[in-house]
Amino acid sequence: MARDRRDKYYWKARDEGYRSRAAYKLFQINEKHSIIKEGDTVVDLGAAPGGWLEVAKEISGGRIVGVDLKKISPIEGVETVKGDITSDRTIEKILGLVGKEGADAVICDAAPNLSGNWSLDHARSIDLTRSALGCAKKILKPGGHFVVKVFQGDMFKDFLEEVKDNFTFTRSYTPKASRSQSAEIYVVGKKFLTSPVRRGERFDVEIKELGSGGDGVVMVDGFVVFVKGVEPGDHVSIRINDVKPNFAFAEVISADKSDK
Ligand SMILES: C[S@@+](CC[C@H](N)C(=O)[O-])C[C@H]1O[C@@H](n2cnc3c(N)ncnc32)[C@H](O)[C@@H]1O
Repeated sequence: MARDRRDKYYWKARDEGYRSRAAYKLFQINEKHSIIKEGDTVVDLGAAPGGWLEVAKEISGGRIVGVDLKKISPIEGVETVKGDITSDRTIEKILGLVGKEGADAVICDAAPNLSGNWSLDHARSIDLTRSALGCAKKILKPGGHFVVKVFQGDMFKDFLEEVKDNFTFTRSYTPKASRSQSAEIYVVGKKFLTSPVRRGERFDVEIKELGSGGDGVVMVDGFVVFVKGVEPGDHVSIRINDVKPNFAFAEVISADKSDK
């Protein structure tokens, strides 16, 4: 490693026995956003050499699975898969280890090989993070959490929206241990949504009753949706604007009150 890359976190990792300075990024992300708790099953995508795996094991003490294109040298109590996170075969192997109950957290610090060309590296990073999100959607249990590294650029906002569509709470965060000159940022998605409705979806519904708060209540695919400013008997087109684990909120986009 070049001398100028040896910063305080490099020496701290060496002194405290972690495999990488990246270990402190996960400590800081977890301190701020409580992604991993004791007993959790955690899957780490792009895990070599294993700093995050050591931290995940230390915080959780539960089942930890690390995946990388490169071989990860053994860590006690950690299972590893050598494979490409963009391939279905790798996802099947992970599911084989995690079981059908799923993971409490999927964390991803994977980075593409950097070319030095900013827009190419950004596009490759977005491809990889989309694969990580796809993988998380297959592996996470309902209510599980997700963290992924992204190199910033013009496609970042769209990616953030994709994460928002799948989690109750989404934030971006840069831990102190990220190098100041780095373009990396971490996207945190908390409480994985498995509801049948998604933000932005539209439905035509009839309002049959009002809830105790005065909002209309409709069922969409067996899922409760609250609609503001309607009366029983209204036929309205609604757009979902917020999804929670057990219900959603929608706004009226057009109303046909002819039945009233
Ligand atoms: C920055 S390192 C991860 C460091 C790790 N978090 C730690 O604390 O030791 C990024 C890793 O992503 C892996 N990676 C990149 N693309 C991948 C892919 N498609 N599938 C699996 N791993 C990948 C690389 O091999 C590399 O080991």
